Amino acid sequence: MTDKLAELKLQCAERISNLKSLKELEQLRLDMLGKKGELTQLLKSLGNASPEERPALGQLVNSARESIEKMLEEARSAIIKQERNERLAAERIDVTMPGKLPALGAKHPMTTVLDNLKAIFIGMGYEIAEGPEIETPYYNFDALNIPATHPARSEQDTFYFEGGDSLRTSTSPMQIRIMEQGKLPIRAICPGRVYRRDEVDATHAPVFHQLEGIVVDQGVTMGDLKGTLELFARELFGGNTRVRFRPHYFPFTEPSAEMDASCFACGGEGCRVCKYEGFIEILGCGMIHPRVLQMSGIDPTVYTGFAFGMGLERITMQRFGVSDLRLLYENDVRFLKQF
Ligand code: DAH
Repeated sequence: MTDKLAELKLQCAERISNLKSLKELEQLRLDMLGKKGELTQLLKSLGNASPEERPALGQLVNSARESIEKMLEEARSAIIKQERNERLAAERIDVTMPGKLPALGAKHPMTTVLDNLKAIFIGMGYEIAEGPEIETPYYNFDALNIPATHPARSEQDTFYFEGGDSLRTSTSPMQIRIMEQGKLPIRAICPGRVYRRDEVDATHAPVFHQLEGIVVDQGVTMGDLKGTLELFARELFGGNTRVRFRPHYFPFTEPSAEMDASCFACGGEGCRVCKYEGFIEILGCGMIHPRVLQMSGIDPTVYTGFAFGMGLERITMQRFGVSDLRLLYENDVRFLKQF
């Protein structure tokens, strides 16, 4: 019996020296101490021994069991320790390695341009106002002196709701809303989203952005309009920018004009950007029609004013030399990264 026990211990020690995992250790424990394990079998065989021998043999087996349990326990700690060391080595971090920069976004070019425009006009004492994107026919058309027969009113140009309201087709209704408040003098810009039933192409989108400007005071003249807008163009496109005003027609201004700025790309010589014109159309403007003033409760014999409206997409495209409007909306990172 003593020999058998010694051999069992030896066997156990040998298997322990080859152990690689806790799973293998558990198998060893079952092989030795489990219900069908070697030591358990030995213990069972004690039934065959004579009653006089049994206590002594029992003690031997028990002490062998204790020492095997101890060996297994030590092996267990050793394996756990080793596994932990291996894991620590594998997960080791080199704190001196250069870090990874988080991918930071940037302002969309339209936002940059809008920020510039706001700064320029705030610098000239303008306030910023915003208003509803759904308008009644009164604000969107009538109060702007746009007659019932005007093509802009047709279903082809305007998104109508049942009942006659529509998505605003320009930011000009904001002129009316500001004038109606009756606080004079007025100096305000109104940026915002506008809607027209246009097919998407390189220069059109059914949703786009405008910036409206309005000034009303006593003694405001066309000279003020020209000076203001020339200054604005220089601030936005650079100090050497020249502007020119072409007569135009808008129902809500009289006289009306369109303003062009000398091409920022060629300085006016003519190039691909300005289609060899030297100038680029920037905005519509004019002296507010006396009838529009009157409808909004302002006495046109005392007050005069000017207004202007520009498309933000168009200005952004000009400012950054973008050739296709759709690029501004597609959110292609390869495009946006360039700004
Ligand atoms: N509302 C015009 C448009 O959408 C732009 C415009 C022209 C606005 C002249 C004005 C203005 O305030 O005076 O095309």
